[in-house]
Amino acid sequence: MTPDKEPVVTNLCFVCIVILIVGIIVQVSGENELRVDMSKIGLTHVPKDLSPSTEVLDISQNYISELQISDFSFLSGLKVLRLYHNRIQRLDFSVFKFNRYLEYLDLSHNQLQKISCYPVVGVKHLDLSFNDFDALPICTEFGNLTQLNFLGLTAAKFQPLDLLPIAHLHLNYILLDLGGYYVKENEAESLQILNTKSLHFVFHPESLFSVQVNISVNTLGCLQLTNIKLNDENCQVLINFLLELTRGPTLLNFTLNHMETTWKCLVRVFQFLWPKPVEYLNIYNLTIVESINEEDFAYSETTLKALKIEHIKNQVFIFSQTALYTVFSEMNIMMLTISDTPFIHMLCPQAPSTFKFLNFTQNVFTDSVFQNCSTLVQLETLILQKNGLKNLCKVSLMTKNMPSLEFLDVSLNSLESHRLEENCTWIESIVVLNLSSNILTDSVFSCLPPKVKVLDLHNNRIMNIPKDVTHLEALQELNIAFNSLADLPGCGTFSSLSVLIIDHNSISHPSADFFQSCQKMKSIQAGSNPFQCTCELRDFIQHIGQLPSEVVEGWPDAYKCDYPESYKGTPLKDFHVSPLSCNTGLLIATIGVVVLVLAGSVTFLCLYLDMPWYLRMVCQWAQTRHRTRNIPLEELQRNLQFHAFISYSGHDSAWVKGELVPCLEKEDIRICLHERNFVPGKSIVENIINCIEKSYKSIFVLSPNFVQSEWCHYELYFAHHNLFHEGSDNLLLILLEPIPPNSIPNKYHKLRALMTQRTYLEWPVEKSKQGLFWANIRAAFNMNLTLVNENNDVKT
Ligand SMILES: *[C@@H]1O[C@H](CO)[C@@H](O)[C@H](O)[C@H]1NC(C)=O
Repeated sequence: MTPDKEPVVTNLCFVCIVILIVGIIVQVSGENELRVDMSKIGLTHVPKDLSPSTEVLDISQNYISELQISDFSFLSGLKVLRLYHNRIQRLDFSVFKFNRYLEYLDLSHNQLQKISCYPVVGVKHLDLSFNDFDALPICTEFGNLTQLNFLGLTAAKFQPLDLLPIAHLHLNYILLDLGGYYVKENEAESLQILNTKSLHFVFHPESLFSVQVNISVNTLGCLQLTNIKLNDENCQVLINFLLELTRGPTLLNFTLNHMETTWKCLVRVFQFLWPKPVEYLNIYNLTIVESINEEDFAYSETTLKALKIEHIKNQVFIFSQTALYTVFSEMNIMMLTISDTPFIHMLCPQAPSTFKFLNFTQNVFTDSVFQNCSTLVQLETLILQKNGLKNLCKVSLMTKNMPSLEFLDVSLNSLESHRLEENCTWIESIVVLNLSSNILTDSVFSCLPPKVKVLDLHNNRIMNIPKDVTHLEALQELNIAFNSLADLPGCGTFSSLSVLIIDHNSISHPSADFFQSCQKMKSIQAGSNPFQCTCELRDFIQHIGQLPSEVVEGWPDAYKCDYPESYKGTPLKDFHVSPLSCNTGLLIATIGVVVLVLAGSVTFLCLYLDMPWYLRMVCQWAQTRHRTRNIPLEELQRNLQFHAFISYSGHDSAWVKGELVPCLEKEDIRICLHERNFVPGKSIVENIINCIEKSYKSIFVLSPNFVQSEWCHYELYFAHHNLFHEGSDNLLLILLEPIPPNSIPNKYHKLRALMTQRTYLEWPVEKSKQGLFWANIRAAFNMNLTLVNENNDVKT
């Protein structure tokens, strides 16, 4: 029984462990599940299956119409709840009773009409704007929201003390949606907003401005109005509305968004604001309607520093341009930005102007702007980006009377530099010049401000920096990326250059001289060029690879081989070639040395060790061995009595008898010598023939003496025509002493032919070589030969 129980226990344990592990995984993934985004999925209720550890819950843009305690009570860690753009009509703050950490609650753009109060003390951001409240939804409990930072509200009508419960709080931002505001018949409303840094009103986007509430503020720094629709009649309504709001001395920033107005009313608003403490006035999305006529403007003293108008739509088509532009050009402020407008021009101020900063980005100005304008004497920065400028020379002339100009941006125009015959005159004060994204060519270098320090020429059509450019000695930063340059510039002409941006050009083999001439370089960005990875690039790679990495921007990833095909895409840092294959001089020298050494050793071998002789001997020995093996034995041994017959001149008999014969007989080679083996009674010729016929081979000892001996020639003749051994190679020639070719008489053509074939063995005088000589002689004899004795007995 007991043994059966054990596996059950083990199994149970296993199950426990599995459950434990699964539990841990759920918890871990639950812990990571801090943010839940369920926006725009058509929810009609707050989902019930949320993880209790959810911290950020986005259920905005759904169709949720009701909130209940049970929806959120289990989300004890909830910090951020986005509920905007739903259909909630009633809100009881006690639904967040259990969400102690709730900081951010966005209920804007619902249909809230009523709220029930409950203190949710931790809230910092509470947005109830864009709802259907009639009166301001303020609970006395809001007074306890000591951390409240942002408050968004909606109201259609006001009581002066509506905001009293929160009067002691120091808010950063109040958003007040007055889209539903309507004018009351008799009473003039008022509202006190006490402490907030920013106050933002949003009005009805379609209706004419009509809000008549007297709003007073304390310590307001930033005022913003959105959706203001004005005509000549209701212009005063806005001005009245602003009267109290703009009184405070702390108001610095005033912004108008989506403003539609007549020109006359706009000028009145400017005029109203001119003596106010506002320093920065911004208007975004301005539409001018009805008409534009000349308006008087009194440029009284103002604290306004900067006016910025971005994106103007002009719905007036026939009007005096001067009436429009004069109001701006005469402004006695420091900074003016008018961008993204259909303006085609800006006038030159009539009197010396206070402008230090002018930004006219993205208009349709032409080359005529500020020509011959000598009143912009304080102007330091001029931005004419993205306009219709065409002539670089005209631009240079424009600056002529701007003695303070330091920064000029004429990027993103259609500037050309090839019509520079008119002289080009820049004001010397220019330090930064932005000429990027134009259609400038190489000739731009003959028309540049002489003291420019930062020059942006990227995205033009420059192919080459001319060598004879005016020396830009002050130039420190040059951006010439996205052009068609074929090489890096040297720093001869730019002696102060320390930053060079030259990526995206056509540089295939940059010269390494650059690094010598540009010693002050602090940053170079030369990637994304079509580098040709050949020998010429090695110096460049070596130099650039040695620079500190903060100097070479984008190294190594942006620097890749483009050619040859086999290296395409290889980072330059990984491109290596051997020094030998790149240096032709070195290559030639190496080959030369090898050839010389070879030639030297061959000469040495030939001269001092007589190499050719050895070669010949070894060759013959090999041939002979081969031949003797191939001759059928039976044929050879028919009636052979001797291995060899030796023919020699009597003058050489000392060598023959002293060296050759003893040596051969030592090897059991039987020799037929005519003195020894001659048969008496036979003629000499018969004896010789007899001797030759009975010998397997005939050895001829050649020497000048042999040539002179007539007998010897006969013997050679007979031996060569030996009937028995015809076809077989029965001659063995030994050259005892060299025979001068001319010394052989013509009639002995046989000998001549043999000599020219050089099939003889040379007798070496040196002792060391004689071993090989004898080996050769021995090899010529087939020692398996069975010889017949003179008495016709067979001898083995
Ligand atoms: C020049 O203008 C272009 C845009 O038009 C901008 O991206 C670039 O940073 C400017 N260069 C300098 C040096 O200010």
